[in-house]
Amino acid sequence: MDVQGVRAAYRRYARHYDRYFGKVFHDGRKLAIEQMAILPGEHVLEVGVGTGLSLPEYPDGVRVTGIDLSPEMIQHAQTRVEDLELPDVTLLEMDASAMEFSDASFDHVVAMYVLSVAPEPERVIAEMRRVCKPGGRLYIVNHFRNANRIISSLERALAPLSQLLGFRPDFSLDEFVAHNDLDVLEAHPVNLFGYWTLLTAAREPTCRGGASPDLERSIRSH
Ligand SMILES: C[S@@+](CC[C@H](N)C(=O)[O-])C[C@H]1O[C@@H](n2cnc3c(N)ncnc32)[C@H](O)[C@@H]1O
Repeated sequence: MDVQGVRAAYRRYARHYDRYFGKVFHDGRKLAIEQMAILPGEHVLEVGVGTGLSLPEYPDGVRVTGIDLSPEMIQHAQTRVEDLELPDVTLLEMDASAMEFSDASFDHVVAMYVLSVAPEPERVIAEMRRVCKPGGRLYIVNHFRNANRIISSLERALAPLSQLLGFRPDFSLDEFVAHNDLDVLEAHPVNLFGYWTLLTAAREPTCRGGASPDLERSIRSH
């Protein structure tokens, strides 16, 4: 997938996105925001904010900046912000793999259902780290390859259609964590059948150097 492919996919999805992905992804959005335990006056960056379905869930008095690659998705988010009169939200069209923010600009940085869509997820993670304040946390909600062998072979079979689908169906959690050297503090299965995962990770890497923590197995065995 490339930037133009993502823009084209979400140009097609934007109008119908809320109907298909509103309720089904809602619990994961809500839990991610609860886990942040945001204090009044703090500033949150939401990467890949889409149509802004999460925005009404933020507590009052919290500043939220949402960025997205797709002008059509941002336009829907802007309409929501105006309709709901959310005064503390700023929306910008921006690529999360090359953000225009200074280092350490945000208290919390979150990406919901974005990393298996983003053309360069490892650059997005590096940027999320850079713009987060030292000691802060990264919150990631994503679908990762299913532990069930039958489902995971179906996901692998769908992988060549990534460009058309607008996401990678066979994204491995353990490879993702190891590759990005993520220090995962908490992991929760979320949404229907726990098919998606909410990860809370420290901003700072583990320096474990790529060893797989086999997180997928430990989440599913609880
Ligand atoms: C599946 S939607 C999720 C939208 C929203 N977070 C939600 O909870 O519904 C993925 C979004 O990520 C955006 N996206 C993908 N790659 C991106 C990037 N590199 N920078 C910014 N946004 C990106 C897409 O344009 C799309 O709006």
